Amino acid sequence: MNKGLEKHGQTVAMVPSYVTGVPTGKEVGTFLALDLGGTNLRVCLIKLGSDGNISIKQQKYKVSETYKTGEARQLFDFLADCIDKFLAELNETDKRSSSKEGKLNLGFTFSFPVEQTAIDKGNLISWTKGFTCAGAVGKDVVFMLQEALNRKGVPVKVSALVNDTVGTLLAHAYKHPKTLLGVILGTGTNCAYFEKISNIKKLQFNSNAEHMIINLEWGSFDNEKKVLPITMFDNKLDRESNIPRFQIFEKMVSGMYLGEITRNVLLNLIDRKLIFDGISSKDFNTHYSFETAYLSTIEEDDSDTLENVRKILEEELNIPSTTLTDRKIVKRVCQIVGIRSARLSAAGLSAIISHCNVIETGCDIGIDGSLFEFYPAFEARIKNALREHFGSNADNINLGLARDGSGVGAALAAMLSVK
Ligand code: BGC
Repeated sequence: MNKGLEKHGQTVAMVPSYVTGVPTGKEVGTFLALDLGGTNLRVCLIKLGSDGNISIKQQKYKVSETYKTGEARQLFDFLADCIDKFLAELNETDKRSSSKEGKLNLGFTFSFPVEQTAIDKGNLISWTKGFTCAGAVGKDVVFMLQEALNRKGVPVKVSALVNDTVGTLLAHAYKHPKTLLGVILGTGTNCAYFEKISNIKKLQFNSNAEHMIINLEWGSFDNEKKVLPITMFDNKLDRESNIPRFQIFEKMVSGMYLGEITRNVLLNLIDRKLIFDGISSKDFNTHYSFETAYLSTIEEDDSDTLENVRKILEEELNIPSTTLTDRKIVKRVCQIVGIRSARLSAAGLSAIISHCNVIETGCDIGIDGSLFEFYPAFEARIKNALREHFGSNADNINLGLARDGSGVGAALAAMLSVK
């Protein structure tokens, strides 16, 4: 963290967000938000009411593999199309209430590593989470979105660029003023926190503000593979991924990868004839066929015969036959992969809590993402690990679900920037 605060281009990028204001919970107004980088693309209209109430109208769109892996211009045109369609369905009052100088303001949640140079400027460092669009790395993603909107004549001004962790942090802070960290534990993983501006040595920034939100980009922690206890199964996954030697921490923690790590471990057990009588299946041999959602279902199966585990293995993945012992072994492997992910997440959180020196005073942490929300015992496992590290002081740390916070956060950032 200290290296990234001092210099640009470090492994943990420590990206300045240019968000210095802390929401007071009293902000009012109507803003648009566009959220790209999770499982779905979302366009939202967010109304912050004077009574602290938030109302959201939103539409989700699926980003097809063609857009994820094609030309950047096509992806951004698709984003502009989705915004256009969404606007067409809004009523006139909603449209008017979020506009300024005839244009609607939009907060753009873009959940990939960018080198941000202003609240509304940021160059993409690299794609993650299966996106590989050509012609975007090194370019300003706000400019690309604005150009696409202009090409289509959509009356929208992109006024803030935020990472989903920054959005989650802002949205959680709006409701819980002691919030210091925003975390995503979903398809990808990352964290943002409030840092003293005087500590951000690499930043030339004149402002009276004391704090700025920093987006760690912790997914790339230990890309050098010097610190983490990386296994042969992690290395196999890394080597076969479209970004080898990048996002090493993310590849051990986040939802996109847990199923594939488990599959790698099980394939090894199959080849050593320790499970399934040494027989795999075409489906099981296919990359990423073992979904992370299976881990949740398998860990939750408490039946004597592990019936749901059997269904997944024999009916979904077409393994010819499994014994109860096989299924118990599969369940244990899932537990190990799941526990490791939660404990590594807790290690990351502990580092930031220690860096900010807030274990005595305590803080709130807003967390979003499918792993945290749906994976059985994920939260309990993080808490156990925090307790191991901090003792009873760990109880000063409150973990809270900040569901879909990044949209609200992007609206807040757009609002703070317009202010
Ligand atoms: C991206 C981050 C993002 C995280 C969670 C990672 O792959 O690099 O920018 O915050 O996923 O969505």
